[in-house]
Amino acid sequence: MRLIGTSVALLGACLAAAGTAVAQDYVGGNFLLKATLDEPEAYCLDVFGFGTHANIDEPLSVHTCKNAGWRDATFTVNYPETGQIYAPAYDRCAELSQIERGGHLFLRPCSESPLQRFFYRDDQKIEVQSGPGPRWCIVVHPADGIATGGPSHVRREVMMLACDTLEPQFAQWLLPDGASSLGRDPEAGVTRADQGRDGSARGGRAPLNTLEGAAALYGTACLPCHGPTGQGYVELSAPKLSGQEDWYLSRQLWNFVGSRRGTHDGERWASQMRYHVSDFDNDALIAGVSAYISALPDDPAPVTIQGDIERGASLYAQGCAVCHGTDGMGIEALNAPRQVGMTDWYMVRQLEKFREGVRGDHPDDIYGAQMVVPSQALPDDQAVLDVVSYINTLVAPQ
Ligand code: HEC
Ligand code: HEC
Repeated sequence: MRLIGTSVALLGACLAAAGTAVAQDYVGGNFLLKATLDEPEAYCLDVFGFGTHANIDEPLSVHTCKNAGWRDATFTVNYPETGQIYAPAYDRCAELSQIERGGHLFLRPCSESPLQRFFYRDDQKIEVQSGPGPRWCIVVHPADGIATGGPSHVRREVMMLACDTLEPQFAQWLLPDGASSLGRDPEAGVTRADQGRDGSARGGRAPLNTLEGAAALYGTACLPCHGPTGQGYVELSAPKLSGQEDWYLSRQLWNFVGSRRGTHDGERWASQMRYHVSDFDNDALIAGVSAYISALPDDPAPVTIQGDIERGASLYAQGCAVCHGTDGMGIEALNAPRQVGMTDWYMVRQLEKFREGVRGDHPDDIYGAQMVVPSQALPDDQAVLDVVSYINTLVAPQ
């Protein structure tokens, strides 16, 4: 099984909270149609066939629910990435055959395909991330279930139709593990189709360039990795953002959007970050979310790096203070960000990236390029730890 990295902490939290009975080596639970329809035992999303006869190349359907631990019908959501529906027994993700009426769901290797990105709406329908035009949802066939043998074994086809085509009972779902969310709201402005150049959203929501709109956007698109107060999560390799200046945050967002950061092999975390903002082609949107973040409460990040503080102090004075300030608060005129109270392990990793030429190497990354020489001037790897442990001793003015 491939439950590593990103979502383990989140999954663990969901499972603990839901307390669902699951067979030992499967994480996940049943994906249920909310209405029982003609099957009092309820319908669950299921792989065609059963056990060793399961045929993962057939489209997914719904079938009479069986006991917990039933691997053909065990799913988890938002894994490996937000919006994906994952089948741990097969290490595959649900993918639509096509974005049009009558498309079917298949299990395919997990990928970045938009056909694998779903959103659980407030009305409990599951919408597919699509461009302009009708909103498409996952529904079950309205005709009575087809008997598949045994006293109570019925199946229905699962397909895609415009969200309001059928009665809600054919389109409302309950997520596995008691999860309450799946994916991101396509109307919350994370897709190009849904946002105007001024950052205004469709559907009567607060415009994204207002603080309220930016807060909503942060809550759906950023909070899962950077935390409710922008404090960051080490398990997700996501740094603290709060306390950083908005001009710096915006520039980094543009760097990710423009593929000037996070494109190298092995940059697993940074490429996730890049993926998550790749649809933000909008100045107002980026400025709004950056302003929102820089106004979040700013507590110093925990200290995790040990080094020779005295050596670090002299390295800092010689090689860093000129741009980042003797107080480490950053100098906007020199484009150098604040370092005081920011995430130490993240600064170490960025210094390593600058030293190795995986950040600041893109021809258009003129600001990142300025860090290459000073980082490479640090005499050895220990010096990286030393200088960051000195930065840890600095305190932000109140
Ligand atoms: C999947 C998790 C994830 C999501 C979602 C995510 N980020 Fe990130 N973010 C990261 C990681 C990991 C990094 C560090 C990348 C690196 O190591 O280069 C990062 C880095 C950043 C940085 C650079 C910080 C710096 O000091 O250089 C900014 C700014 C940022 N994220 C903002 C956002 C915003 C705004 C959103 C929402 C629109 C968001 N992130 C969504 C994981 C995520
Ligand atoms: C010539 C000016 C200059 C010098 C000298 C300099 N920096 Fe920087 N530093 C910058 C600029 C500009 C950036 C922003 C890069 C960007 O926008 O991507 C930066 C970014 C960084 C970052 C990334 C922060 C983040 O949140 O992503 C770290 C860490 C850093 N510097 C540490 C240092 C250390 C430690 C030294 C001394 C060894 C140093 N810098 C010396 C200009 C400088």
